[in-house]
Amino acid sequence: MKKVNIALIGAGGMANGVHYPSLRDCEDVNLVGLCDLVPAKLQATAERFEIDQTFSDYREMLEKTSPDAVYVLMPPQHLYPLVIHCLSQGFHVFIEKPPGVTLHQTKEMALAAEKNGCKTMVGFNRRFIPLLQKVKAIVEERGPIIQCMSTFHKNTPNALYYDGVIDVLTCDAIHAVDALRWLGGGEVKAVASDINSFYSERENSFNALVKFTSGASGYLCTNWAVGGRIHIFEMHARAISAYINPDAGGHAVLHTPEGITEITTEVAAGSNETYKTYGFYGESRHFVDCIQQDQQPLTCFEDAVKTMELVTAIYQNRIDSSTTQA
Ligand SMILES: NC(=O)c1ccc[n+]([C@@H]2O[C@H](COP(=O)([O-])OP(=O)(O)OC[C@H]3O[C@@H](n4cnc5c(N)ncnc54)[C@H](O)[C@@H]3O)[C@@H](O)[C@H]2O)c1
Repeated sequence: MKKVNIALIGAGGMANGVHYPSLRDCEDVNLVGLCDLVPAKLQATAERFEIDQTFSDYREMLEKTSPDAVYVLMPPQHLYPLVIHCLSQGFHVFIEKPPGVTLHQTKEMALAAEKNGCKTMVGFNRRFIPLLQKVKAIVEERGPIIQCMSTFHKNTPNALYYDGVIDVLTCDAIHAVDALRWLGGGEVKAVASDINSFYSERENSFNALVKFTSGASGYLCTNWAVGGRIHIFEMHARAISAYINPDAGGHAVLHTPEGITEITTEVAAGSNETYKTYGFYGESRHFVDCIQQDQQPLTCFEDAVKTMELVTAIYQNRIDSSTTQA
């Protein structure tokens, strides 16, 4: 199989913590260049991942390295022009969530990808968590998922993402929204929501009941003003219920009429490394496989438009237009 040449824009936290370790583990990938605006980060990251060519100008990097694909790992407010440029040059593109700061940006990026025949992927890593993938497959052996739940809690009631450029739901709770879409079968039929501001002037709790065209009911339960970070999921099908916490040291508990079984996060991933247990290796592997097999990744920009549309629908379909301010 031909090796995939990948150029990297961004030498920040996610790049160093999870994405470049994942790419380093892919034997069929060459890291052909790295670009960052901060020289110290650029140098340290290039040394760590043994990348020979470094740049401060991404356009120059793309011209000189002619990659197959580009990872653009930026704060969301800087993402759009870089992604559009990469797509206009015909490069495949991987980005983190959120896929732009507005639904409009996501749609424009999806259009540009289609026009230029590019493979694209948004790092909705929850879909690639080995424990969630394994449990979903076990549950679906009994029949389609008919009920699902995606819960995400944190304790930062007054969180302001990127100095307020983007809201909590679109920037971060979107992980729970996207995972719910995945569990419910992908296509949304109807939404009812309740959004509140607890101990803050900012909206920080987003709840929704989502009906999917599959017939499944999905529950979104997110609150940034409660005990602390927990991100858990439920999947239910005929005669099976699964309750899953995929964090480090977490596990899934599956209930069936035959009894109760458990699978741990680490056993499902075959690893203790967070970049493997939490889906980051899996998403990069999927992106590279799709490039080699000429397929569009599951979380391509066109699919990400649907997740951003669900975010929009959650804002638009409140059962009570006044937000509670505790
Ligand atoms: N999937 C997850 O669980 C998860 C978790 C945290 C963050 N994220 C997302 O990851 C993305 C990146 O976050 P991060 O924390 O790694 O960011 P970061 O700020 O640590 O890194 C971004 C880097 O990009 C560089 N940069 C900015 N503009 C540039 C340009 N024009 N050319 C070259 N380099 C440029 C900066 O110098 C910086 O080193 C964000 O969209 C964030 O929402 C995802």
